[in-house]
Amino acid sequence: MKARETLKIKENGHLEIGGADCVELAARFGTPLYVLDEEYIRSVCRGYTRLLAEKYPNSKIVYASKAFSSLAIYPIVYSEGLGADVVSGGELYTARKAGMPASEMYFHGNNKSAAELEFAVREGVHAVVTDSFYEIDLLDEIARKQNKKQGVLVRVNPGIDAHTHRFIQTTRPDSKFGFSIADGAALNVLQTIAKKENLDFLGLHCHIGSQIFELKPFALAVDKMTDFIVQAAQCGIKVRELNMGGGYGVTYTAEDKPLQPWEYVDAIVEKLSECVREKRIDAPKLILEPGRSIVGEAGITLYTVGAIKEIEGIKKYIAVDGGMFENPRYALYQSKYDAVLANRALDAPCETVTVAGKCCESGDMLIENICLPKAKSGDLLAVFTTGAYHYSMASNYNRNPVPPVVLVNRGESEYIVKPQSYEDMLAREVIPARLGVE
Ligand code: LLP
Repeated sequence: MKARETLKIKENGHLEIGGADCVELAARFGTPLYVLDEEYIRSVCRGYTRLLAEKYPNSKIVYASKAFSSLAIYPIVYSEGLGADVVSGGELYTARKAGMPASEMYFHGNNKSAAELEFAVREGVHAVVTDSFYEIDLLDEIARKQNKKQGVLVRVNPGIDAHTHRFIQTTRPDSKFGFSIADGAALNVLQTIAKKENLDFLGLHCHIGSQIFELKPFALAVDKMTDFIVQAAQCGIKVRELNMGGGYGVTYTAEDKPLQPWEYVDAIVEKLSECVREKRIDAPKLILEPGRSIVGEAGITLYTVGAIKEIEGIKKYIAVDGGMFENPRYALYQSKYDAVLANRALDAPCETVTVAGKCCESGDMLIENICLPKAKSGDLLAVFTTGAYHYSMASNYNRNPVPPVVLVNRGESEYIVKPQSYEDMLAREVIPARLGVE
């Protein structure tokens, strides 16, 4: 457990987050329960904005909504000076409903639909990050029909091999994302956009992957992107914005040793300033899009321990009331997590167990081989670093309701996502009359 002022163990052995006692949270809101620490989210946002204000004021941090999108998250990040990266009509709709101005938004996606693009142009998003020739033609036509000139960035693949899980690497040569610099596609697309009457080319975007710990791939990406800015300038194309994506790693277990989130930003800024000087280019506006580092460690999930099963000499399972419907990351990426018994977190860990979910699937695990105090049915398990890519990736698999989300701050706690009832799950379903059910 990585303790902090807003995440600690109290003298009575109860885990406390954002000033709220986890045993009380579980009693009041039930389990499984996602809990988000508002102060932590704000502190990371401030770390980023302070650093940039000092070292590269011509910049903007946009929160990558895909990490956690719900109505309440947008007013928090917006009030800290952040914009938003949205990746679907649904995220755009949520952000707008929550009061995030469209002018603060970047709209991503490798295959946005015509309806999504029409919506984005109508709302007036600052930039659509284009990722295909198909989309460029479509977007130009949509902007023309709406009598607008739409700002665009071009997603570029600088070809960097960042060390993270294969599924969350994005700039390998075979990636589905971005126009490759190496094969000339990127330059080609800039020239195509320059001829489009209803598109306003603003600049370039790249995102090298997620959950990255090293600084080197980011510096390398800045180097490649600024080389490309020089190339574009030689063709008379000015890059006003450079969006370097997100991807800064967070701590899931003691094996993970990320830097402070803003240290990644610092490295990007240092490298960019150096490249601007040495390559004699006009300093572009720098955009960064962190998601996981803003909400990841802010979140924990509380579970109640139920069945305990020991296979003599082989394995001991403790099953909890969650599973891959609320955390599919183990099943997808073999992700690792740390956890404590939140009702007796001071008891000494003494046995290695596997935490199993409740879904009908052998791969439905949450944590393989974790050393915990001897758990009993009814104990409360808190799993750390569940703020990013948990609620946003949850499903109703096995018809389990998606757990509610509670926001905690200075001891106050309230729902930001209410519990989903069985009725809610059926709300959009119909039985055709010809099936003859009364
Ligand atoms: N910008 C773009 C264009 C992205 O594709 C992503 C993440 C981000 C920013 C934010 O990256 P972050 O700062 O959160 O690392 N579901 C996976 C993560 C997928 C990340 C996809 N793109 C997981 O659970 O680990």
